[in-house]
Amino acid sequence: MEYLIKSAIAATEIAPSSGPSAELFSAGEKSPIAALAPSLAHRAQAGSRGAPDGGAAQAPAFVIVGEGAGDAVAREALLDRAMGPNRKKKSSEKLRRGRRPSEGLAFVARDASGAVVGTVRLWDVRLGEGGPALLLGPLAVEPGLKSGGIGSALMRHAVAEAARLGHGAVLLVGDAPYYGRFGFSADRTGTLAMPGPYERHRLLAVELKDGALDRARGTIKAAGRKIKGQALGFVA
Ligand SMILES: CC(C)(COP(=O)(O)OP(=O)(O)OC[C@H]1O[C@@H](n2cnc3c(N)ncnc32)[C@H](O)[C@@H]1OP(=O)(O)O)[C@@H](O)C(=O)NCCC(=O)NCCS
Repeated sequence: MEYLIKSAIAATEIAPSSGPSAELFSAGEKSPIAALAPSLAHRAQAGSRGAPDGGAAQAPAFVIVGEGAGDAVAREALLDRAMGPNRKKKSSEKLRRGRRPSEGLAFVARDASGAVVGTVRLWDVRLGEGGPALLLGPLAVEPGLKSGGIGSALMRHAVAEAARLGHGAVLLVGDAPYYGRFGFSADRTGTLAMPGPYERHRLLAVELKDGALDRARGTIKAAGRKIKGQALGFVA
């Protein structure tokens, strides 16, 4: 418990710079966090992935917050470590390059020291001849912290924020065995195509509004705000 409380305090201290969508997670109960972080208590969710013996020491506290311009270098370094040098050759990159993430939909996970230990962003796209949607990715977690619930927390927060902001659907290219737990499947993407090589069974989607994928047909196109000049903080 001592570790949990120290972690919660440290995480709370970095939260004020995080904007309105901060979420605090830890390996313990909700109540100590609520007591220590009243400003976040209404958003706090206790992680449920503590150590098998119920102890908290193996699962660090982390917060999910909006990405700041100062996070770009740490985010890119994390993506390199997690995904390797070929990550920018993916078809998804064609839909991200030169664009900004969708407004309010770039998130990082920070550990108790404030370091970036996870990242996810969502991008505005158009579903071929159909309507608008979001493309999610890349999602990545610090390799040494995998299986600690950070990826799931980022996913749930990102999808919930997308829904709260009124978006109708989220797509991604990824493994159904992982993303299925967040509602994603290939059931509705058969009429869509990525603008480059991809594995069809890995093009997944979830509807946030009924019918948002009904007219989805054709090649997915970039629709995000273009980067002007050298806005390094948001280079994809
Ligand atoms: C994928 C990733 C973001 C998951 O983050 P995480 O914090 O480890 O995820 P969680 O702790 O929420 O979930 C871990 C669980 O998902 C499972 N999992 C992870 N990747 C998986 C995959 N590709 N397929 C199926 N299951 C997967 C783990 O085995 C683990 O299972 P368990 O709960 O039975 O132990 C992380 O492993 C990562 O950064 N991978 C490298 C980058 C990458 O591949 N990103 C996805 C690009 S589409």
